[in-house]
Amino acid sequence: MTDSSFMLEALELAKKGQFTVQNGVCVGCIISKDKEILGQGWYEYYGAPHAEIRAIESIKEKYKENFKEVLSGSTLTVTLEPCSTFGKTPPCLDEILKYNFKKVIIGALDPSQSSVEKLKSAGIEVLLEEVPNDLNKGFFNSLLHKRPYVRAKIAMSEDQKTSFIKNDQQWITCKESREDGQKYRALSDLILTGSGTIERDDPFLNVRDEEILKLKGFQQPARGIITSSKLETSLNFFSGQGKKYIFCKDQNIFKNFQKEEEVSILEIKNNDDNKIDLKELLKKIHSLKVNDILLESGPTLTTSFINQDLIDEFIIYIAPKMLSNTALSFFDGDQSKSPFNSKQFQLIEESKIKDDKKLIFKRI
Ligand SMILES: NC(=O)c1ccc[n+]([C@@H]2O[C@H](COP(=O)([O-])OP(=O)(O)OC[C@H]3O[C@@H](n4cnc5c(N)ncnc54)[C@H](OP(=O)(O)O)[C@@H]3O)[C@@H](O)[C@H]2O)c1
Repeated sequence: MTDSSFMLEALELAKKGQFTVQNGVCVGCIISKDKEILGQGWYEYYGAPHAEIRAIESIKEKYKENFKEVLSGSTLTVTLEPCSTFGKTPPCLDEILKYNFKKVIIGALDPSQSSVEKLKSAGIEVLLEEVPNDLNKGFFNSLLHKRPYVRAKIAMSEDQKTSFIKNDQQWITCKESREDGQKYRALSDLILTGSGTIERDDPFLNVRDEEILKLKGFQQPARGIITSSKLETSLNFFSGQGKKYIFCKDQNIFKNFQKEEEVSILEIKNNDDNKIDLKELLKKIHSLKVNDILLESGPTLTTSFINQDLIDEFIIYIAPKMLSNTALSFFDGDQSKSPFNSKQFQLIEESKIKDDKKLIFKRI
C-alpha cells in the first residue's frame, strides 16, 4: 500500500461521521508501519474522542503493554491537521508528540490550528497530501468566508414548478426521492425555511431516516424559520428534539415563545425592501457556530437567496410531470442566476431515483 491509498482509506473512515459530527468536522486516521495498517479511528460524533486519539487507543487495545514500541517509528495519516488547542477534548497534538511517530501525513490544513510546525520541531516528518473531497465544506467555508455553506433542496416538475397554487396537493416527487432528501437534512447543522412553507405545509423539518436515527451520537439538526408573521406554538416545527430558531425583525411579536426551552428568537436587521436582510442572517447563523445550512423554502425565499448569490449548492429532484399553471416556479428572479443557466454553477451529479431525476449543481 502507498501513503496516498492510506489517505483514501482515512477519508472513507472520516465519512462514517458525516451524519453525527454536527457543528464539528469529519476526520479519519490510520496508523501504519512498513505499509501495514496497525490501527485506525474516526471522529464519531460531536464531543467524542478525536480520530487520532481513537487510532492510538485502538493500538493500545491491540498491543497492550507493547503499544509504545509499536507506535514508535510509525506513520500517522490523518485527513485534517491535528488540533493544537483545547476544545471539547485536549489537543491531539500533545498526544501525538508522546509516541515518537516517524511521519505525519495530513490531508488538509486547518487554518484554526498550528500543529505542523510543532510536529516538525519535534523531528517528525510532515507531509501534506490533499485528496479532493467534499467532506467538511461547511467547516472550511465558515473559516475562510465567515459564513455557512448553503445547500438548497428543491423538488420540482419538468417545468421547474415547486409550489402548488391550490392547497390540495402536497408531493411533487416520489417517496424514494423524498427519502434521499433526508440524508441532506442529516448532513446539515440547520434546516432553514420561510413562513410561507410553515403556514402552508406545517412541516416537521426533522430527520426520520431509520438507519440514520440509529447512529451512535446522532442528534436532530437545528431548525430555523425566517418570518415576520406570528406563529402558533402548536406547529409541527416546534415539536420533537432539536434546537429551534425564529429569525425575525421584531422579537416582541414572539413573546409567547419566551418560555420554550429549545426555541431562540433572534432579531435580524431589515434590508432596503423592508425584508429580513439575508446577508445579516447568515452572519448571525455563522455566529451560532453553524457550518452547514439546508434551505428548504418556497419560491419567495428561494428567489431572495438566489438573487443575492447566497446559495452554494442545489440538490434538485425533478419529477416527470408538467405542472403548468397549477403551480409556481421555484425561482422568480433574473433567469441568468438560475442554477440551470448561470455560469457560476456546474452540474456535478446527475442520477435517477425511480422515474425522478436528481441533479446537483455546485458554485464554481
Ligand atoms: N417543492 C419544494 O421543494 C418546496 C420546498 C418548500 C416549500 N415548497 C412550497 O412552497 C410554498 C410556500 O412558498 P412561499 O414562497 O409562500 O414561502 P417561503 O418562501 O417558504 O417563505 C416566504 C416568506 O419568508 C419570509 N421572509 C423573510 N425574509 C425574507 C426575505 N428576505 N426574502 C423572502 N422572504 C422572506 C416572508 O414572510 P414574512 O412576511 O412572515 O416575513 C415570506 O413571505 C408551499 O406551497 C410549499 O409547499 C416547496
